[in-house]
Amino acid sequence: MRLRSLRIVLLLAVLAVPAAAQEKFTNLKVLPQDIPPQQLHQTMDGFTRALGVRCIHCHVGQEGKPFKHEDFALDDKPAKLKAREMMRMVSDINNKYLANLPDRSSSPVKVECITCHRGVTQPRQLHDVLDATYDGGGIDSTVARYQALRAKYYGRAAYDFGEVPLTLVADHARTAGHAADAERLLAMNVDANPTSDFARRQSRAPRSRARSASRAGTRAPRRCARSATATATRSCPRTCSTTSATSCSAPARSRRRSTSCA
Ligand code: HEC
Ligand code: HEC
Repeated sequence: MRLRSLRIVLLLAVLAVPAAAQEKFTNLKVLPQDIPPQQLHQTMDGFTRALGVRCIHCHVGQEGKPFKHEDFALDDKPAKLKAREMMRMVSDINNKYLANLPDRSSSPVKVECITCHRGVTQPRQLHDVLDATYDGGGIDSTVARYQALRAKYYGRAAYDFGEVPLTLVADHARTAGHAADAERLLAMNVDANPTSDFARRQSRAPRSRARSASRAGTRAPRRCARSATATATRSCPRTCSTTSATSCSAPARSRRRSTSCA
């Protein structure tokens, strides 16, 4: 008898768990009011992954301390308000704009938080982050920032650590009149991308190579042909070395240099 009542107590306890955990949400303005708790938590987990943050980025609370359930309903943090706008925006992108695309793929691509955020709160390109660092703190800060970001994010979707972004930052420095800084960035690009011919060519380049790169995309030969015809011939010869120097309508001076850049 005693064993039986113990069993009943245990059974009741088991039944009581989901009942007690059945959360009531009191401040949902975008998600459906009757959203199952499990689905809400999956959504929230998705937010944390997409932005590379923890719950307290958006919710009131203290790191390492248990949350009070009712605190989740508070709208005290700007990030939570922004996140709500983002939810509306994402819903519009999917339901208003993408849904109206003609001839859409039969397994339509859905925009999600991570589509833009890629694991960071501010979905900026690497060169934009570094340009801003350069303007605010100069070359040493920029180098340090690059290395810190690379140490933290290499191998993730957050930033492109390939051969192109540092050439754009070098161009930014050069445009600001700091050729030596540009060279340092291009040399760092070679160190960071040791197998990249592109990085190596950029690094040896005397002038405005990065700018022609940024204009024309990422493939060296095509960039070459376009920069040769459309812009300064001085940026042509070395970039042309992989194709043929004849695709550059370069004047004599440049052609002379082109022979040395194979
Ligand atoms: C990027 C910001 C963001 C992050 C990170 C985030 N949340 Fe939320 N959370 C929201 C927003 C926005 C709402 C309100 C949604 C709405 O209005 O429909 C919300 C609502 C909730 C609610 C419902 C509160 C109520 O009663 O109305 C709970 C519970 C919750 N979040 C838990 C979590 C947990 C747990 C985490 C961490 C795993 C988390 N959230 C991470 C933005 C965030
Ligand atoms: C179409 C691209 C895009 C998508 C998709 C997107 N975001 Fe954003 N998000 C941005 C941009 C751009 C900013 C920076 C806005 C600004 O200038 O302050 C931003 C900023 C934010 C911020 C403020 C950043 C901070 O420092 O806390 C939060 C929070 C946020 N987004 C949450 C979300 C959530 C949650 C989703 C998915 C529901 C989402 N975003 C989807 C582009 C996007």
